[in-house]
Amino acid sequence: MKIVFTRKIPTELVEPLKEKYDIFMWDRENEPMPHERLLQEMKDADAVFTNVADRIDKQLIEQSSSLKVISTMAVGYDNIDVEAATARGIAVGHTPGVLTEATADLTFTLLVATSRRVVEGMDLIRRNEWQSWGPFLLTGQSLYKATIGIIGMGRIGQGVARRAKGFEMNILYHNRSRKPEAEAELGAVYCSLEELLQQADYVVLLAPSTPETKNMISHEQFEMMKETAVFINTSRGTNVDEEALYQALKEEKIFAAGLDVFETEPISNDHPLLTLNNVIALPHIGSANVETRMKMATLAIENIEKGLAGERLTHIVNAEIYGKGK
Ligand code: DGY
Repeated sequence: MKIVFTRKIPTELVEPLKEKYDIFMWDRENEPMPHERLLQEMKDADAVFTNVADRIDKQLIEQSSSLKVISTMAVGYDNIDVEAATARGIAVGHTPGVLTEATADLTFTLLVATSRRVVEGMDLIRRNEWQSWGPFLLTGQSLYKATIGIIGMGRIGQGVARRAKGFEMNILYHNRSRKPEAEAELGAVYCSLEELLQQADYVVLLAPSTPETKNMISHEQFEMMKETAVFINTSRGTNVDEEALYQALKEEKIFAAGLDVFETEPISNDHPLLTLNNVIALPHIGSANVETRMKMATLAIENIEKGLAGERLTHIVNAEIYGKGK
């Protein structure tokens, strides 16, 4: 059986698989495989190991006649045509859980760095423009006892709320369903999206990317936010109307934004948002610590091995392929 890896991952993870499987691994870590090459390699593949940046579309799924498992080293799977996979009985696996704390860490890092203008401070020194201590030099927004509004109170949202508790923040959240455990453990208060946007000093977007969440934060939502609000997005860029975000930041309708994700990735250095001082932009590194990425890759391999052995994946996206009773 053949497994295609769309990126290079550490040899120690792949080597043991070679005893059992025929492995094709793209030899670049930070550069995607050309789509034509992927199509070619997938023709006789039984499983594919992918990631958020490598698209597994309908054409690819339909032409890969032996394909049994699509496994992504990510919690989000918006890069995969799950409907097309399900129609063909192909299992789609992902890696929730193991990246919760790393992503919550990075989300909170952006929150602190953006509110306290950390990158602007560093840039000022680099430009050799630091003349003196100034009473209001690079003043930002307070964190202690401020109100955080978390949109999407899943595992990562709750991880961010736990960190916010350490800063004695008031925690508001909005989610498809109430989270009684977060309310009890963290004192998080459920509210409507409108109430959250109006009351939060920090608006943190952690909703998954679905047709319903596309552009869920646009002009109207930025209008509702406080002028001092800091907006953080570590979910998916497609959840935000980027043009509306640009306007809101440029016209100082909100204070600043910290972004780890963009509508189309990668962005280049001429992206309009990068012209603004009140933006911190990162290249989709929410889960990027070594330990977490190793766990994600290991879990994605486990999903593949289970699927190829005819077992249920540890974390399956389309459980309906198993039918009732399994
Ligand atoms: C995910 O897992 O979906 C992140 O975006 C990448 O770690």
